[in-house]
Amino acid sequence: MYKKQKRMQGSVAWQSPSNLAITKYWGKYGVQLPRNPSLSFTLSNAHTRTKMDYKTGQDKDAVNLKFYFEGKENEAFGKRVFLFLNSILDLAPWLRGLELSFASENSFPHSSGIASSASGMSAIALCVCSLGKLFDDRLNDTAYFYKLASNLSRLGSGSASRSVYPYMALWGETDLVHDSSNEHAIPYHDIDPVFKSFHDDILIVSRKEKSVSSTAGHALMDDNIYADKRYEQAEQRLDLLMAALRTGDIPQFGKIAEDEALTLHALMMCSNPSYILMEAESISLIKKIREIRQDTKLPIYFSLDAGPNIHLLYPDEIVDEVKQLEKDVFSQFCVDGLIIEDQVGSGPKPF
Ligand code: PMV
Repeated sequence: MYKKQKRMQGSVAWQSPSNLAITKYWGKYGVQLPRNPSLSFTLSNAHTRTKMDYKTGQDKDAVNLKFYFEGKENEAFGKRVFLFLNSILDLAPWLRGLELSFASENSFPHSSGIASSASGMSAIALCVCSLGKLFDDRLNDTAYFYKLASNLSRLGSGSASRSVYPYMALWGETDLVHDSSNEHAIPYHDIDPVFKSFHDDILIVSRKEKSVSSTAGHALMDDNIYADKRYEQAEQRLDLLMAALRTGDIPQFGKIAEDEALTLHALMMCSNPSYILMEAESISLIKKIREIRQDTKLPIYFSLDAGPNIHLLYPDEIVDEVKQLEKDVFSQFCVDGLIIEDQVGSGPKPF
């Protein structure tokens, strides 16, 4: 169990991916607990690499740190990580009294409009759990390790809880899956192999910061008159999605992915105050994707996160046709033609 050591020094490092929710988490309560379950693809190319150096510090009660992002000290993010780590000392007591230095970098370009909180927070949580192995023997059990990593990630950023598992992860309690939990995500295995190599290329239509943060967006759900119906709907769609994933039903999967993305943005538009995160190009791309699907019968679908960029979802077997469409059609709607190519991946790795 918890073993205290006198003086210590060393480092741990993790690469952790971003993820894309197919059924969306939107609305929370308590300390980062979701109002409905969400099921996501773990991505591969969009990831954060974080090295954490640790040593015994002067302050016995708190954890202190410096945070370097791409070689430069980032005080704003350092402050957020400081608050996060000091808030989890009950769950990770080995951090107390340590001095940490983080060096972190993202695989995706600066200001690409892609949020890095899921990959960034999960990489930090995984480093904390690796260090914890020196103090708490339970962390040598793989299932326990990832459960705690997911729980800590959640406290850093809700959706980050889903980044610690390969292929797909489910976060949020539901009667449909017996060991599901609001406190941590679980790996989701019941999927046809076609989804394990699914593509998710991100069509970048804006690099700007979001005008309304996710934190503010979740809070607006508290007074959204459609909230209760929405939480019910999320559970029903999860049920349908699970069946589509199990049977390899791509059209049904794609329908749910698109309905969920549009519902997320509709909820923003009917919040009070209302707001819109899509851009004109987001709508143009949505229409184009549907038009091309109708004309060519290619199984291409879209999703969106809380932002204007379009995630283009399709199976590996049509990769050549889609790359051609990206070049000829979709890139024209993107800032500087930027498309970030990604695919479902095998989860985080230490390095
Ligand atoms: O993890 P947060 O608080 O940034 O919320 C993210 C919510 C969505 O990305 C819009 C949906 C999801 O389930 O990831």
